[in-house]
Amino acid sequence: MERVPEPEELMNDIEQALAYARADFSEANQLFITLLEDIAGNDGLSGALLDLGCGPADIPLELARRHPQLRIDALDGAAAMLDLARQHLDEDEQVGSRIRLMCEYLPCPALQHNSYQSVASNSLLHHMADPAVLWQTIKECAAPGAHVVVMDLMRPHSELAVDALVETYALNEPDVLRRDFRNSLFAAYSLDEVAQQLTDAGLDSLSIAGVSDRHLAVTGTLPA
Ligand SMILES: C[S@@+](CC[C@H](N)C(=O)[O-])C[C@H]1O[C@@H](n2cnc3c(N)ncnc32)[C@H](O)[C@@H]1O
Repeated sequence: MERVPEPEELMNDIEQALAYARADFSEANQLFITLLEDIAGNDGLSGALLDLGCGPADIPLELARRHPQLRIDALDGAAAMLDLARQHLDEDEQVGSRIRLMCEYLPCPALQHNSYQSVASNSLLHHMADPAVLWQTIKECAAPGAHVVVMDLMRPHSELAVDALVETYALNEPDVLRRDFRNSLFAAYSLDEVAQQLTDAGLDSLSIAGVSDRHLAVTGTLPA
């Protein structure tokens, strides 16, 4: 099935951001966190972590709770999303104080190069007009030996398969969320396309795999 880009790259519409923030993504978020913790292994997660396209900051908050040595820069280009992220951080001040929200659009010259021990991104890749921007940002900002996890939706083979996933995972969700999920499945990349993006970016130390019926993940450690 041909890819259809997202109508809007950023999730800056308030109704859209609210529906997203209220939805329960705990299963996918837990999968993402497990992948990152597995990559970090016995080293554990500590130092500086960059979360690209952080949305309402559910993942950075959970990571900060689980890993007290972690400081997180959580970046998103949508002010509407970051307003919701700010509210979430304020609800847990002690943990929230280790997370810095950055309202920035990628590519972002303000990000420090070679400075993050971990770089994480969930569900951003399919939003980006130019996916090479995400891979270039990771290459520039990650410290040598950094842990990397990029998880995203994986484009189904047919419109029927898209509809089936929407029915399975968003049956009782508000219309705006069902619409966004459908658009996201059409906009997602395939395993082969992401593998080619990694080759083009020279990120040969990272691996790609399907990790659920609708997600793919790029994981690994950059050269030391
Ligand atoms: C589907 S949400 C994912 C949010 C979060 N990572 C999560 O897992 O819940 C994608 C986010 O990426 C942001 N985004 C899309 N393109 C971007 C860009 N070029 N620069 C910065 N943020 C971007 C959107 O505004 C949106 O909040």
